[in-house]
Amino acid sequence: MHLAIIMDGNGRWAEKRGLKRVEGHKKGAEVVKEITAYCANNPEIEILSLYAFSTENWKRPKMEVDFLMKLLDNWLKKELETYIKNDVKFETIGDISKFSDKLKKRIEYTKEKTKNNKKLTQILALNYGSRDEITRAVKKLISKNEEITPENIQKNLDISRDVDLLIRTSGEIRISNFLLWQIAYAEMFFTKTLWPDFNTNELEKIINEFKKRERRFGGI
Ligand code: IPE
Ligand code: IPE
Ligand code: MG
Repeated sequence: MHLAIIMDGNGRWAEKRGLKRVEGHKKGAEVVKEITAYCANNPEIEILSLYAFSTENWKRPKMEVDFLMKLLDNWLKKELETYIKNDVKFETIGDISKFSDKLKKRIEYTKEKTKNNKKLTQILALNYGSRDEITRAVKKLISKNEEITPENIQKNLDISRDVDLLIRTSGEIRISNFLLWQIAYAEMFFTKTLWPDFNTNELEKIINEFKKRERRFGGI
């Protein structure tokens, strides 16, 4: 199954504790580690897509954006070992061309070192926006002179696999430009838990609820 998560609520988690927003992002990164390890050990989950930075997140204060970029760089450096140990393949979706050369190199290096890992594919959505992704896919088709069909659009997205289960933390009931095409028939769960408080127990409960849902895909 393809599990996708909108990891939201880091800032509020920190503010509630009188901490700076960036402290929430740090704690959030630890939760990514825990959830990824759980997914790697759950044979039902093949792909874990995590919304880490949206095309709209550039609107935030420069200090927060810079912190997130630095956090990602440090994270990939520190966690390469864990990706290898847990047999997790690292991939990204989104347009990373706007990132610094240093960060782009780090991302490419991590992909290269983990490309043969098999237990789980973890996809970080970085400078990702669904509208941008779909627009780029259509542009690719036009430049290759291929027919504009739903199948061809899907094949040219950053990720073609449909989402089975979408979770958003922090109580917001919205999609915020995440995987709009791929969630056409996804089952959705919204939890009030802030991302830094999310854990494998809650994930397991949601997965159990997901299994009880009857998915019809338009049939009967
Ligand atoms: C999600 O947490 C992480 C990113 C968008 C990078 P937020 O930073 O959006 O936290 P809130 O929603 O302001 O609490
Ligand atoms: C969505 O969260 C993006 C990520 C989790 C990376 P936001 O906090 O940016 O979304 P809005 O602004 O509440 O819709
Ligand atoms: Mg938010």
